[in-house]
Amino acid sequence: MRKLSIIGIGAGNPDHITVQAINALRDIDLIFLIDKGDEKAELAQLRTDTCARYVKNPSCRIVTEKDPERDRSPADYGAAVIAWHAQRATIYERMIREELGDGQHGAFLVWGDPSLYDSTLRIVDQVAAMNTVAFELDVIPGITSVQALAARHKIALNTIGGPIYITTGRQLAKGMNGDNVVVMLDDECAFKTVTGSDVDIYWGAYVGTPDEILVSGKLSECGPEIEKIRSDARARHGWIMDTYLLRKNYIVR
Ligand SMILES: C[S@@+](CC[C@H](N)C(=O)[O-])C[C@H]1O[C@@H](n2cnc3c(N)ncnc32)[C@H](O)[C@@H]1O
Repeated sequence: MRKLSIIGIGAGNPDHITVQAINALRDIDLIFLIDKGDEKAELAQLRTDTCARYVKNPSCRIVTEKDPERDRSPADYGAAVIAWHAQRATIYERMIREELGDGQHGAFLVWGDPSLYDSTLRIVDQVAAMNTVAFELDVIPGITSVQALAARHKIALNTIGGPIYITTGRQLAKGMNGDNVVVMLDDECAFKTVTGSDVDIYWGAYVGTPDEILVSGKLSECGPEIEKIRSDARARHGWIMDTYLLRKNYIVR
């Protein structure tokens, strides 16, 4: 039987990897990497460095496939994502069936943790449902960018007894839902749509990496500054990953 591990590797800090992940990587036979294009070459490099640091099996192979092109401004967002996942499932199925031998152990390295805004588990489920290749699956958690952000700002995500809402920039633009809102996948600075002086922001880009940038304070004061820092950093690197917590500042911490 083939074995497949989905391993969370943290969101940029190579030390944010669990002992469970290190143990799994030590004897791994095959690592599947998805190439997301030159723009994010630095992220691919971090994955490669993780392999070099923890994989001890001299015959371990790294198999890389190109990520299918994604329609970035589709008329129907949901349908476009489903179509993109189906293309990815076809690629993953072929990689697992053709590259991973019976009795071998392969892994997909997932940015942060596989449970948070990552499609790998959904796609691997689709591969299993195809019934063309059998494998035993396990999932190894990693430190999410949200945990890394909270640690770097030295804050708890929730206020006392309060809920936390984790969402995307696209959803935030429809309204701030709750008193503690974590926002990811926001290319449009959706915090601009939140008005009033009663919200604080804890923002971080490239968190955990040597290029990390952190800003915190009243949203009404820091928002324009973050927008400028973000756009300059994006131009410099060619890509950016940022996450932030918005918190109503009138509530008990
Ligand atoms: C596709 S999601 C992946 C999330 C990942 N699975 C996790 O556990 O953090 C990508 C989003 O995660 C956030 N992100 C990932 N790495 C980050 C980092 N090092 N610094 C800040 N935000 C990051 C950004 O909001 C980015 O748009």
